[in-house]
Amino acid sequence: MSLTHNHLFLRAIKNKPIERTPIWIMRQAGRYLPEYINLKNKAGGFISLVKDPELACEITLQPLKRFSLDSAIVFSDILVISEMLGIKLSFIENKGPVFDRTIRSEKDLNSLNIGAYDVDNLDYVFNTIKLLKNELNGKKPLIGFIGSPWTVATYIVEGNSSKQFTNILGMLKSNPILLHKILNLLTDISIKYLNKQILSGIDVAMIFDTWGGLLKDDQYQEFSLSYVDKIKSSLIQNIPLIYYVRQTGKKIGILKNIDLDVLGVDSSVNIGLIKQQIGNKFALQGNLDVDVLKLDESQMRLAVDDILKNYNAPSGHIFNLGAGITPDINPDKVKMLIDILADISPKYNVK
Ligand code: CP3
Repeated sequence: MSLTHNHLFLRAIKNKPIERTPIWIMRQAGRYLPEYINLKNKAGGFISLVKDPELACEITLQPLKRFSLDSAIVFSDILVISEMLGIKLSFIENKGPVFDRTIRSEKDLNSLNIGAYDVDNLDYVFNTIKLLKNELNGKKPLIGFIGSPWTVATYIVEGNSSKQFTNILGMLKSNPILLHKILNLLTDISIKYLNKQILSGIDVAMIFDTWGGLLKDDQYQEFSLSYVDKIKSSLIQNIPLIYYVRQTGKKIGILKNIDLDVLGVDSSVNIGLIKQQIGNKFALQGNLDVDVLKLDESQMRLAVDDILKNYNAPSGHIFNLGAGITPDINPDKVKMLIDILADISPKYNVK
């Protein structure tokens, strides 16, 4: 049995007794850390870091060297999966991801040579995971991740991170059959990709459904959650699964019935309201507003205490932000947050 088995983070997921609330931070390795910027400039950009297992491993560990975080997350991106289909991905500074082609028609889809895709195109991710497992040596769990098929499709159909979603929402109306074909393909490759991450050693899997909240309730079930369910039921090992969707509050009526281990909650809702609806069905992760990291210590303490008080249960909570940390945050504020949580959470945990 690995050392991570009884780790605080995994006990919190299983609603077992914990002595304090564990914490990790979405995008914890990233542009708010000067040592990240440094390595990125040397490597020649984000994607060069991701594709170099030694560097990706080093970047993953950077925030753990600075802070007492309770988990590592593989340094990669939800969009690298496009490379399994032969779609070339690049990241343009201050603009975000761009693909060398879009999938907007049956013809585009057929041009992908479906069936020839190869999970080994993503070997760099699996090699990063193996290096990390060795470095972490059972002391901290490692989170691996994918995007939900719906969220990845928004990028592949749009071709970039335009926030209009005109093409994919148009396709949903005019050609839902084509959209389902694309989602089925992305689901198949996601299952292979996530299973290989599991075989390579991740302890926890996370599915980012950043744009699931764009969909109305019945569409959300049909175009996003049904595919997430399929991925969940196809995993080769039963490791904990975290599912994150923005606008969590609006979707909780549906989410409370799905099968998962942890729900990632965004900052637009009181976590206590979510907890009341789900009881002990699964654990919650979140949901501090990233802007709290711009406040002073006493204000930050009040905001952290509010979340713990609202959550109001001794376990089943993993502290996190409600969205990824932004480049404008001073790293000292992250340390402040972790210290505050370590100081005040035990009184909520120990009964
Ligand atoms: O959390 C972590 O530390 C692990 C690494 C990670 C990244 N992206 C690294 C990254 C994870 C888990 C992601 C997930 C991801 N990627 C999501 C879902 C979560 C969310 O943020 O809602 C999405 C939608 C993407 C796609 C993506 N990647 C976009 C739209 C962008 C550009 C916008 C931005 O934030 O820069 C990225 C770039 C990206 N992914 C960076 C990092 C560290 C910034 C790269 C840089 O310029 O240095």
